[in-house]
Amino acid sequence: MWQTLLPLTPRYTGFMSGVPHKTFYLETFGCQMNVHDSEKVVGTLIQEGYQQVQTVEQADLILYNTCSIRDKAEQKVFHRLADFKKLQAQGKKFGVLGCVAQQEGEKIFERAPHVSLVCGSASYTNLPQMLAQLEGAPMPSSDIQRLNSEVLTPAGNSRSRKSEAESLIRITGLDDRQTDKCFETEFTARTNPHRGYITIIEGCDKFCAYCVVPFTRGKERSRTSKSVLNEARQMADLGYTEIQLLGQNVNSYRDPAESKSFAELLAAIGEVPGIKRVRFMTSHPRDFGRDIVCAIDAVPTLCDHVHLPVQSGSTRVLDAMQRLYTRDQYLERITWMKSAQREISITTDVIVGFPGETEADFAETLDLLEQVGYDSVFSFKYSPRPNTPALSLEDAIPEAEKSRRLEALMAKQREIQIARYKRYIGNECEVMVEGHNEARGQWIGRTSHNKTLNFTAPDPAFPKVGSYVNVRVTGSFPNSLLGEIVV
Ligand code: 5AD
Ligand code: SF4
Repeated sequence: MWQTLLPLTPRYTGFMSGVPHKTFYLETFGCQMNVHDSEKVVGTLIQEGYQQVQTVEQADLILYNTCSIRDKAEQKVFHRLADFKKLQAQGKKFGVLGCVAQQEGEKIFERAPHVSLVCGSASYTNLPQMLAQLEGAPMPSSDIQRLNSEVLTPAGNSRSRKSEAESLIRITGLDDRQTDKCFETEFTARTNPHRGYITIIEGCDKFCAYCVVPFTRGKERSRTSKSVLNEARQMADLGYTEIQLLGQNVNSYRDPAESKSFAELLAAIGEVPGIKRVRFMTSHPRDFGRDIVCAIDAVPTLCDHVHLPVQSGSTRVLDAMQRLYTRDQYLERITWMKSAQREISITTDVIVGFPGETEADFAETLDLLEQVGYDSVFSFKYSPRPNTPALSLEDAIPEAEKSRRLEALMAKQREIQIARYKRYIGNECEVMVEGHNEARGQWIGRTSHNKTLNFTAPDPAFPKVGSYVNVRVTGSFPNSLLGEIVV
């Protein structure tokens, strides 16, 4: 579920207040949570009078919303920052948001001195004040202290002093990881007019031995079901038909008003008039109750897809990872899903080469892939991360061995997917139309199972993007299906 994304194209680029006088460029790395945070950041900036642009060259302010889940993701951010350092001479300002910001904090100013703003995801609610500060607007002193900001004014001649001081403005918003607040904003600039994210729970209290998220995104905190439902209704009124509920552990959701369980919230969202599809991501196996499967059975708008990261098929490794479940407990949850009335598509995340993972442990993971029959697996080589307990574990697996295991796992999963996707040939599926591929003359659709189904449609039956149509599956690949519209 992790990906690198292109700059966000907002749904609207209008200016909500005042005359725009500053432009910004925002690039997002990482998970859906980051993508959605960026939508909220874009909305907040537009509200503050900024205009979003699509290239760094056009921008006064360049922002990176970063991911630090694995070392590679983090390095990518620093490379990107280094690439654009030369633009500082043109008076552009740089800000680092998200997980690398939270993890590295003020060290970012040492590694990338051209950066002016470092802000973790738990502090985005303070963005308007930080932006005002960045522009040099006067602020109340209490705000300045709270934001832990610092303006360094180096010695220099009077001609250069102002520009040097500006380039060394250093603002940090990092200290709110214990906040109870979620980053809610009415100014979310959603990028897709048909399908939208709603964050229902932020942070994570699970502390898996390998994971930085509890350190970067702070403690777990849920929104009230009332505010989530209000947002879903507003989205339905605006014409959205698909809602994706987001959370690092979406199913650990606990309504602060104690009125709804996660399964009840899911069902209530699925019953909002106008909503045709509801997805949720990512679920933690420990908190995955049978009531979620019952809700999927009872409410047809809940999509028949569950992403349930297993990480390893070996109970010994799961224990070392501090995952809080055994292989058998995980498989019990799979059994619940397999006994559902609709076939539920199951996907997962796997880490190979965790310290101490033996050949026998790895064989158990391969066996589990077979036993579950996943429709997709996101697989990663273990990457040591700062502050995490796994750093002190012995028996590190050599890089070459991690690569060998990753390739073996991907080859096995490819075989499984080829067989699984083939089973759909001849079936009729409803898809939401996501776009059109000019070069191939195909429409791109997504099934409730979350599979891509590319299809052809004769001229008078051209479907609209965002509409739902029935497609007959005529062919399959390891990662997608092929079909023809049913007219
Ligand atoms: N190394 C490798 N993969 C990791 N993930 C999280 N932390 C690490 C790490 N240190 C993977 C897990 C998680 C997914 C989002 O990223 O599989 O489910
Ligand atoms: Fe990381 Fe584990 Fe929390 Fe998932 S549950 S975000 S892997 S600590």
